Amino acid sequence: MGGNLGSGGGAAGGRRRILITGGLGQLGSEFVAALRDLHGVDHVLLTDLRDDVNRSLIQSGPFARLDARDERALDELVTGHRIDTIYHLAALLSAVAETAPQKAWDINMNGLLAVLEVARRRGCAVFTPSSIGAFGPNTPKDWTPQDTIQRPTSIYGVTKVAGELLCDYYYRKYGVDTRGVRYPGIISNKTPPGGGTTDYAVEIYHAAVATGRYVCFLAGDTYLDMMYMPDAIKAALDLMEADPERLRHRNAFNVSAMTFCPEDQAAIIRRYIPEFEISYAIDPVRQAIANSWPNNLEDYAARVEWGWEPAYDLDAMTRDMLRVLTARRGEVSREGAV
Ligand code: NAD
Ligand code: SER
Repeated sequence: MGGNLGSGGGAAGGRRRILITGGLGQLGSEFVAALRDLHGVDHVLLTDLRDDVNRSLIQSGPFARLDARDERALDELVTGHRIDTIYHLAALLSAVAETAPQKAWDINMNGLLAVLEVARRRGCAVFTPSSIGAFGPNTPKDWTPQDTIQRPTSIYGVTKVAGELLCDYYYRKYGVDTRGVRYPGIISNKTPPGGGTTDYAVEIYHAAVATGRYVCFLAGDTYLDMMYMPDAIKAALDLMEADPERLRHRNAFNVSAMTFCPEDQAAIIRRYIPEFEISYAIDPVRQAIANSWPNNLEDYAARVEWGWEPAYDLDAMTRDMLRVLTARRGEVSREGAV
């Protein structure tokens, strides 16, 4: 483990003492940095089932290896480090979950239950992301309302709906300060996505910069809601600091930033890399999941209840992704030349 959390501070309006589960994944690896900027390196305990990836992040501050389902180990970390807030990010994503549904239920549900039980005993606030995967084929596809039909057909979606309800239950029954958003597909450039249906929207930028071409596993006209990582982080931090009196939808706020299909994304990339080519080799499993999800969410409740407003649209995100990935590639080739 990388060390103990520093002393001082509390949750209310000041520096929190935070534990992140699944913190080495796509979201966690960037949440850690943002939360440490805000609350101090020593106030943010990074945990994950794995400790064999991202050595530099593991060594950058407090770290503990933790299976989120292990309630006793989680309890010891929470009491030992006097944690007041848990960001619960450990989960299996939609495509991986479909290859091992029972394991996905075990990790996604028993991990959450352990977190909620420890939070109940130790008085912690909890952030848990839900997903566009919590909707299904008979949900309205366009401007999907905040409160609507939720009959998902993927095991990932089943766990996300159950998780939303369980978090609501722990708030109502035990007063645990549970909060969460329904994230769309998240696009980022630090840690690769962990096996979701929206991963193509990240891979496409890497491929555009590396080779100028991409073979997409979803059909070109498949619309899905997406969001750039800085907005995803902002959503979590803003919701966790929001006035609880104003929150009616605690655990499942629709949040939206942009909607596009692979053809739209390729067209925007061609503004900056005119020779970019996209072709298609459809993966039937991920295509079926994508077809069952909304095209775009209506996020009025998040805007009204805690002031949600995204900063990035498709063009702004594309410019930033290409800038970062091109610069990184330049650094790598310069290092190779030395
Ligand atoms: P990821 O797959 O990139 O990372 C998940 C992390 O959890 C991994 O580092 C993995 O090692 C860890 N993990 C797996 N099982 C564990 C266990 N039993 N105990 C502890 N750690 C375990 O996922 P992500 O993209 O960072 O997603 C984080 C959360 O956000 C998930 O709840 C996911 O459903 C949600 N979400 C993500 C997206 C997205 O586009 N990335 C969109 C909507 C919602
Ligand atoms: N990006 C996630 C997935 O595809 C959405 O929750 O699984």
